[in-house]
Amino acid sequence: MRVLSVASEVYPLVKTGGLADVAGALPAALAAYGVDMQVLLPGYKQVMAKLPNPVRMLEIPELFGTSASVLACRIDGVQYLVLDAPELYDRDGGPYTDAYGADHPDNWRRFAALSRAAAIIAEKGIERWIPDIVHAHDWQAGLVPVYMRHGAAAATPTVMTVHNLAFQGQFGADIFAWLGLPQSEFGMDGIEYYGDVSFLKGGLQAASAITTVSPTYAQEIRTPAFGMGLDGLINARADVLHGIVNGIDTEIWDPSTDPLIEGHFTLSRLKKRQVNRTALANKFGFADTDGPVFTVVSRLTWQKGIDVLAEVADDIVAMGGKLAVLGAGDPALEDALKDAASRHPGKIGLALGYDEHLSHVMQAGGDVILVPSRFEPCGLTQLYGLRYGNVPLVARTGGLADTVIDANEAAIAARVATGFQFSPVSADALREALRRAVRAFADPRIWVRLQNQGMKADVSWDRSALRYTGLYADLLAPKREPS
Ligand code: ADP
Ligand code: GLC
Repeated sequence: MRVLSVASEVYPLVKTGGLADVAGALPAALAAYGVDMQVLLPGYKQVMAKLPNPVRMLEIPELFGTSASVLACRIDGVQYLVLDAPELYDRDGGPYTDAYGADHPDNWRRFAALSRAAAIIAEKGIERWIPDIVHAHDWQAGLVPVYMRHGAAAATPTVMTVHNLAFQGQFGADIFAWLGLPQSEFGMDGIEYYGDVSFLKGGLQAASAITTVSPTYAQEIRTPAFGMGLDGLINARADVLHGIVNGIDTEIWDPSTDPLIEGHFTLSRLKKRQVNRTALANKFGFADTDGPVFTVVSRLTWQKGIDVLAEVADDIVAMGGKLAVLGAGDPALEDALKDAASRHPGKIGLALGYDEHLSHVMQAGGDVILVPSRFEPCGLTQLYGLRYGNVPLVARTGGLADTVIDANEAAIAARVATGFQFSPVSADALREALRRAVRAFADPRIWVRLQNQGMKADVSWDRSALRYTGLYADLLAPKREPS
């Protein structure tokens, strides 16, 4: 089965968040079930610089006012298809923003082009490789099913995966004329959204199937509280909606081999974890290694509940804990954390910025990974935490609710608990969960048991890869007439 996956970021070529991890891990995970997946992504400057021996496969003479080509490049067994269109992608800054952090003004064109290129590949193939299914991720690939339904590949099934409904790719109606779509698309069943154009809405409307990255989030987005205005549409399509939880790449994230950490450890050699704890304390300038070290690796945004975290920072110290934060995001939240760190030198440490290496060091050396998100489609840092003995303390929402088992009395006694959950996302509820964690940490028997149970949890892609494969197979199965 051949599947073309289309994403705006793919680890290890370019990453700003979990989408890259997932788009990067899927090909290998699905290969185990016989799926031949190739991944299409934009040829940003930083991507082009990383490609070993790219081969030009397909010319697209006219793509949104410029010419483009598709390059193929194999890295670690994965075939990447890179859309080379310098006018759109050869720029300084990140995948979505310029060097000053402002959105590129022509993002609609940059990602419409990505989607259009995917539709062309679905029609023409790359050499003799023609996808049986096209799998689009997030709003940047939202127009893939829309373009496909008007072209020669209209019969090819499409899957639209929502990694985060908060980002919808909404633009003024004036861009519609430039998209090259029939006028009928500017309406209820198409990409029109309250008089604007919405790439994600179009994808959700046109795709053969919709998935999101956890069963709980799949339910949540059917409600007004989490639906971000699209709950009506999602409910109308509930028969094709699936919640499939993310896994993690257990080779990259393996504490027994991870080249980025100080000392390797396993379930049976958990004491060897200690050197990583010390390394983390040194890195963040902690005065000692007493008490639990709470870690955060996150975009610093309202979604992630970082304002609530800042509110309880003093309490963490008062409870005898330490706090180490790695992240970047809203300037006001960065400032709130800077203030907390300056109030508690040696107890609260802050690393502003994006640092893949340090993220491994923190998972290996922290005691608790905090994820106080207001909503979280899946979340990956709690999964890395489980695998590395960095016990998750999470808000009970989305994928966090699905992947962490709360250490209540019954779960502790039954030896199934893997972390702590709290709800609602308020300073009071978070404080209470922190207290529970501090108490548990003080009892090494309970703590080691929590770490053990977390490290034993299956956070691999195995089960979810099987579910994606089943979904693809269903989409390809000949439709049975109702009898
Ligand atoms: P989201 O995609 O919503 O940001 P996820 O938990 O799914 O949240 O994925 C975030 C990914 O980005 C994880 O791999 C996490 O380790 C990584 N990450 C987030 N912030 C940073 C940072 N400042 N430095 C390094 N890695 C980070
Ligand atoms: C999004 C979500 C996050 C999820 C990731 C990968 O960025 O915010 O919860 O883990 O996508 O699916």
